Amino acid sequence: MMKKVQLEGRLNLLNGKVLALLFFEPSTRTCCSFHAAALRLGAGVIPVDVMSSSTKKGESLQDTLRTLACFCNGIVMRHPEKGVFDRMIPYMNETNVSLISGGDGAGEHPTQALLDIFTIMQELGSADNITVTMCGDLRYGRTVHSLSYVLSLFTNVTINYVAPEELQMPQHLADQIAKESSTTQHFYSALSDEILASTDVLYLTRLQRERFCGTENVDEIISSYVITAETLKPLKSTGIVMHPLPRVQELDESVDSHRSCVYFKQMEYGMYMRMALLYAVLG
Ligand code: NCD
Repeated sequence: MMKKVQLEGRLNLLNGKVLALLFFEPSTRTCCSFHAAALRLGAGVIPVDVMSSSTKKGESLQDTLRTLACFCNGIVMRHPEKGVFDRMIPYMNETNVSLISGGDGAGEHPTQALLDIFTIMQELGSADNITVTMCGDLRYGRTVHSLSYVLSLFTNVTINYVAPEELQMPQHLADQIAKESSTTQHFYSALSDEILASTDVLYLTRLQRERFCGTENVDEIISSYVITAETLKPLKSTGIVMHPLPRVQELDESVDSHRSCVYFKQMEYGMYMRMALLYAVLG
């Protein structure tokens, strides 16, 4: 239903509701797609400029949230602190306002995982019986943490984690998936033709430079996982390439015209999914 908005422009399902956008980390897609989703549902939006907000005067996060809760029906927040949403739950429970995660540091990015699954379903028809190869910075890239968990809720999924050792998927997350699901998980240090030949979804992530502590050899790490159209030759014929974006050097522009490229559609799907989410939460 939300996809129909493209034809009709606007659905007045959230008339009179107000959504605040509180982003303490840079964002283009998550922030703008939530903003567009709210506008297309008829809601008003307060995009908080954190650089000119009372945060700069030393206000605590809970007080900023309490403040916005007086004015809004929902708040989308992105914050650099991993686990910050758990820490804010008691304060949000004092209010009637929903707090939606737009990402917490190197932790999780749940709405990206939802839009990623929506993309897979739209492009492949189902998220059951698929092999997903995640490649890049799996340690600090929060999107893959959330996506691997959501994938584990589907049937007969195999996840290949391809990353240099320093950037591999955190073991505790893989252990949790192993404990709670029958998902098959494999760890590799490099992408091979064999892996690509069995891959339905190649999910790339950029190096999260801003989360490095300075001890890692970044340049050496980067050169180990650049994907070009040439790299994709062995990819399964029906395989798709996804990326939460922004891309830096890990995804060459030669892939943009490759039959497998869906990362631009993935952004658009994100708005429809966030419309559905806002309607479910605020409607
Ligand atoms: C991702 C994020 O912020 O975690 N981007 C996004 O939300 N589309 C990925 C990234 O920044 O690398």
